[in-house]
Amino acid sequence: MGAAMTKTPPKTFHVKSFGCQMNVYDGERMAELLAADGLTATADAAGADLVVLNTCHIREKATEKVYSDIGRLRKDDPAKMIAVAGCVAQAEGEEIVRRAKVDVVVGPQAYHNLPRLVSDAVKGEAALDTDMPPLSKFDALPARRKVGPTAFLTVQEGCDKFCTYCVVPYTRGAETSRPFAEIVDEARALVDAGAREITLLGQNVNAWSDGDGRGLHDLIRALDRVEGLARIRYTTSHPNDMTQGLIDAHRDVEKLMPFLHLPVQSGSDRVLRAMNRSHTRDSYLRVIDRVRAARPDIALSGDFIVGFPGETEAEFAETLSIVAAVGHAQAFSFKYSPRPGTPAATMEGQIAAEVMDERLQRLQAAINRDQLAFNQALVGRHCDVLIERRGKQPGQMLGKSPWLQSVHLETSAPIGTMVSVELGHAGPNSLTAREISAERASVAAA
Ligand code: SAH
Ligand code: SF4
Ligand code: F3S
Repeated sequence: MGAAMTKTPPKTFHVKSFGCQMNVYDGERMAELLAADGLTATADAAGADLVVLNTCHIREKATEKVYSDIGRLRKDDPAKMIAVAGCVAQAEGEEIVRRAKVDVVVGPQAYHNLPRLVSDAVKGEAALDTDMPPLSKFDALPARRKVGPTAFLTVQEGCDKFCTYCVVPYTRGAETSRPFAEIVDEARALVDAGAREITLLGQNVNAWSDGDGRGLHDLIRALDRVEGLARIRYTTSHPNDMTQGLIDAHRDVEKLMPFLHLPVQSGSDRVLRAMNRSHTRDSYLRVIDRVRAARPDIALSGDFIVGFPGETEAEFAETLSIVAAVGHAQAFSFKYSPRPGTPAATMEGQIAAEVMDERLQRLQAAINRDQLAFNQALVGRHCDVLIERRGKQPGQMLGKSPWLQSVHLETSAPIGTMVSVELGHAGPNSLTAREISAERASVAAA
């Protein structure tokens, strides 16, 4: 940004999002914002005058990827405008401008200012905004127009939990909830724009509260009444914010899908304490029992970190045993990555890379075993599949079961239709199914 040189205003843009679903949502909103400003979206970064890299800072690899992407883009086309958005923008700010030639830096709470920042950059002016005014971006964003059958809706942002390994509280700021009515309005707009399934998003989505005693379950019950909306999901949740109201919603609300992503991170109480997770192995398992009592078929998902500083082989074995105790339908597992500025980065007992690799392999083998078992247990079961896209074979479509499994089936039902099926062959990552009946086209198009 140093050189006060004017640039040609961009006519086309491409937004590339990394990281979590909240970033995907932000990327969609930035694209809508730039389109409303008169720019045209391109299918890839190569063809765009302006590339927005919507970045993730969660692990070192994610951050380094940003710099290699900038380098590649610059090499291919030195005139291209590059904007860095997302969590790396928030965490590194000016540092990005020092390390790489970029035109705009914009944080996750300030991206409603993107069009102005782009025109500042065109004039050769500094274009950096990493202010964190909570929620004000939502008021400044254009209305939702056209979306696919499944849509994300951010309802809560930020995190106050400060797990000792995690950058999110620093990159996304304090826990804040969007107002009830605004969320219901956006859900209606998404349904009008084509959504049949909405996933409510937040770094701690189950901490959503309107400050007046209403919690996420009240929001879910309100969305249950939105006509045309067929499915509700939410992610990602913290074990300590799993209220009885939310658990009961899994028993009572038909549109709420039987799926829960509830990261536990480790099975060892000593490691959980060092992580500042504020739940124990036991309290986690008790929550799972209550959830299963409300919804016996629920698909459970989670996140795990292996090789947290000081993790012994015996403590890692406790992670394997909690995996066996829960029986996940799916789960994500990561090698611990020290993040600058977080307490764990300077803790003693950092674990060697080879040890982490080996533990990760054992953990993933256990998770894969449970995932396959979960899928196999559903063979022969009847359920609905929401068609999301075309499959690889002619006549084949791809959709999702209520338990969030990918399902391949032969059907003439178009994208956005709910098809009732019998589940057939189960693999580790997907199932096949036989169509029993599809919604009438008029319903699907509604
Ligand atoms: N808010 C969610 C998840 C946020 S980040 C929660 O509390 O569960 C998504 C996942 O990335 C985390 O659940 C954790 O498993 C992983 N993660 C976060 N920081 C990490 C780090 N420094 N190294 C490795 N994995 C990390
Ligand atoms: Fe990170 Fe912990 Fe907050 Fe999740 S709860 S976002 S892991 S600090
Ligand atoms: Fe990454 Fe930021 Fe999400 S660090 S995981 S993009 S909140």
